[in-house]
Amino acid sequence: MIPRITLVVASLATVASASQPGAPAPVAAPMRELEWGQINFLHTTDIHGWLGGHLQEPQYSADYGDYISFASHMRQKADEKGVDLLVIDTGDRIEGNGLYDASDPKGKYTYDIFREQSIDALCTGNHELYLEASVDREHNTTVPNFKKSYIASNLDYIEPETGNQIPQAQRYLKLKTKNQGFNVVALGFLFNFDRNANNSVVQPVEETMKEEWFQNAIREKPDLFLVIGHVGLRMKEYETIFKVIRDQNWYTPIAFLGGHAHVRDARKFDDNAFAIASGRYFETIGWMSIDGIKKKSQNQASIEAAVTFRRKYIDNNLFGLYYHTGLNETTFPTDHGRNVSNMITEGRKALKLDNSFGCAPKDLWMSRAPYPADNSIFSWLETQVLPDSIVNEERKNVSRLAIVNTGAIRFDIFQGAFTRDSTFLISPFVSKFNYIADVPYAVASKVLELLNSGGQVFGAGSLDTKHLTIPEQVAPSPFLYTSTAEKGPVSPMSIFVEDDAQQKPLGGKGDGGEPELIGGYTTHDDLGDDGDDAVHSPIKFYAVPNCIQSKIAFPPPEEGQDKAKDPETVDLVFIDYVQPWIIKALQFSGGDFGTDDVKVYSNNTLTDVIASWVKEHWKNDC
Ligand SMILES: *[C@@H]1O[C@H](CO)[C@@H](O)[C@H](O)[C@H]1NC(C)=O
Ligand SMILES: *[C@@H]1O[C@H](CO)[C@@H](O)[C@H](O)[C@H]1NC(C)=O
Ligand SMILES: *[C@@H]1O[C@H](CO)[C@@H](O)[C@H](O)[C@H]1NC(C)=O
Ligand SMILES: *[C@@H]1O[C@H](CO)[C@@H](O)[C@H](O)[C@H]1NC(C)=O
Ligand SMILES: *[C@@H]1O[C@H](CO)[C@@H](O)[C@H](O)[C@H]1NC(C)=O
Ligand SMILES: *[C@@H]1O[C@H](CO)[C@@H](O)[C@H](O)[C@H]1NC(C)=O
Repeated sequence: MIPRITLVVASLATVASASQPGAPAPVAAPMRELEWGQINFLHTTDIHGWLGGHLQEPQYSADYGDYISFASHMRQKADEKGVDLLVIDTGDRIEGNGLYDASDPKGKYTYDIFREQSIDALCTGNHELYLEASVDREHNTTVPNFKKSYIASNLDYIEPETGNQIPQAQRYLKLKTKNQGFNVVALGFLFNFDRNANNSVVQPVEETMKEEWFQNAIREKPDLFLVIGHVGLRMKEYETIFKVIRDQNWYTPIAFLGGHAHVRDARKFDDNAFAIASGRYFETIGWMSIDGIKKKSQNQASIEAAVTFRRKYIDNNLFGLYYHTGLNETTFPTDHGRNVSNMITEGRKALKLDNSFGCAPKDLWMSRAPYPADNSIFSWLETQVLPDSIVNEERKNVSRLAIVNTGAIRFDIFQGAFTRDSTFLISPFVSKFNYIADVPYAVASKVLELLNSGGQVFGAGSLDTKHLTIPEQVAPSPFLYTSTAEKGPVSPMSIFVEDDAQQKPLGGKGDGGEPELIGGYTTHDDLGDDGDDAVHSPIKFYAVPNCIQSKIAFPPPEEGQDKAKDPETVDLVFIDYVQPWIIKALQFSGGDFGTDDVKVYSNNTLTDVIASWVKEHWKNDC
C-alpha cells in the first residue's frame, strides 16, 4: 500500500538551541501536519527520567520545560478551534537518566519537575514498582501531585503503618471535556507484572475486570472510553480489555494509549477502537485525534459511531514544536516553560551530570549495530569491559564465566564526552554481581545457550526469557521483521523499509532548498507509514540475544598446543537480576545448585563497572 502523505517542507531558518545549555540545535526536516479532531491527545510514556531531553541527539533535544510551553500553546489552539485536548502519561517516569538516578534519594529533582505539567490522566509503570522506596514515593508524592488524574485500576499499595491494602489511586475517572462537554470514562492499567516490590499488589487484568467497580464503569455509557496503561499494544492485556468493554458497548469509541514496549506503534482493534504507543525516553510526544464522536443523550444508550482516529509521533525537538504551533524562538517559550527548564538546569548542575569521565572514541549501539560487531555495545562489554572489571580479589585466579542480560543496557553510547549522566543512561540498575563457585565447566558452559534459546525450560510465566532482553524486543508489532537471520534486520522501533520509494526523492542533497533527511524513526503501524511527524531516512535495527557472556582468566594453551584445555570447574558470575534463570538453567544442565550456593561476587553495579572502565581507558578529554 502506498500511504497518502502530505509533505510540507518547513522553512530552513536556523533554529535556536534547546532549552538545556549544551543541547544540540535541532535539524530541519520535511514535516507532516498534525490533524486535529474533536478530542485530541498529547501522550508521553516511558520517559525514564529524561526530562532534560537528549543532549547528544538533535532530533530529541527539547526538554520538559519546552513540553510545558508546547502543551500550553496546543491547549490554546484547542480552545480557539472549540475542540478538546487531553494530556496523558502512561508510566515508567523513573529510572534511566542521571537526573533521576544520580540523586540521593533518587528523584530528588524529577518529581517536582514532572508535577509542573498539567496532566489529565496518568498511571503507573513497572519501574515505579521495583523498589519499595519507589512505590512509597509514588504513593506519597506523585499520587497527591495528581490527585484528580492519577488512575490505578489494577494496582494497590500496602500502607507501611497499618499493613492495609488500599488502591494506589482512584480506580477510574469520569471526566467531561472542557470545550465540548464529552463524557469520558478513563481507566488506567499496568500489564500483569509480577516482579513488584511487596508493598504493592498488581492485580491481573483478568481479575480486575470481574470487580464490581469495573463492571459498573463499563456500564457508564460515556461518549468515549479512554484506556490508558503501561501495557504494550500487542500484549494480550489490551486485547482482553478491549473485548470486555466492546461486549458491553457495541459502538462506543475506545481510545487506548499504551507504553512499556518503547516503540512507536498504532493498533486497530475495530473501526471504533484504536491504540497508540509513543516511544521512549522523551524522544516522542504522541498525538492522537478522534473525530466523529457523537454525544449520547440520556435515554439513548448506544449510537452507531463512525469515528476517525489519526496519529502522529512528534520528534521532541524545538524545530518541530515551533512548526506545530506556528511559533518561533521568541514567541514559543512560556514563562512557566522557561522556569521548568531552569529547574532542570539547576538539578543537572547540582548533580554534576555534565562532569566528564572521558571521551568515547566512537558510537556504540545497542540495536543499531549487529551483534557481534566492533560497534556493538554488547561486544564492547563482552570483550573489553567485563574481562577487565569482573574480579574478586579472593577468586581472581579462578576461571570464570560472567553473564549479563542485554536488558541491563538501556541506551547507546555516542562518540564524544562520556559524562556522569552517560553512566545512568546506559545502565541505571542497582543490580550487583553474584556467583556460584566451582561449577563443573560442562554444566556452566551450557547456561548461556539455554538463556538465549529460551523455550520450554523456563515456561511462559515470570521466567519467560523475554524478560532478559531489551524492552524494544518484548512484544513486537507484526510489521517488524522477526527473523534473526543475518540479513534480516529486526526493527523493534521502526521498520527498515528496503524499497522506500516514497522517501527517496526527498533525500535530496540539500539543493533546491530541500533538506537532507536525517536518520530516525520510519514507523510502520496499523494506520500506515505516515505516522512520524518528521520525514526521516530509515535506520536499521538488529536483534540482540537475551544474554552475553565473557570468559575470563581461562588458562592459555599449553606450549606447543593451539587450543587451551577447558578448565574442570569455573566460577559462574552473573548480574543478580538473572539469578532465577541461572539456577533453572543449571538444574536443567545437570547441575544441582540452588540459591544457597549463591554468594556475592562484587558489590559494584554494572553502572559502577562501566564508569570505572571508562575513567581508566578513555581518559582523553574531548
Ligand atoms: C515518601 O516515601 C519515601 C520512601 O519510602 C520516604 O523516604 C519519604 O520520607 C516519604 N515522604 C513522605 C512525605 O511521606
Ligand atoms: C518482602 O519480600 C522479601 C523477600 O521475599 C521479604 O524478605 C520481606 O520480609 C518482605 N517484606 C514485607 C514487608 O513483607
Ligand atoms: C517571531 O514571530 C514574531 C511574530 O510573528 C515576529 O514578530 C518575530 O520577528 C519572529 N522572530 C523571529 C526570531 O523570527
Ligand atoms: C517563573 O519564575 C519566576 C521567578 O522565580 C516567578 O516570579 C514566576 O511567577 C514564575 N512564572 C511561572 C508562570 O511559573
Ligand atoms: C594467582 O596466580 C599468581 C600467578 O600465577 C600467583 O602468584 C598467585 O599466588 C595466585 N594467587 C592466588 C590467590 O591463587
Ligand atoms: C559486599 O558488601 C557486604 C556488605 O557491606 C560485605 O559484607 C561484603 O563483604 C561485600 N562483598 C564483596 C564481595 O565485596
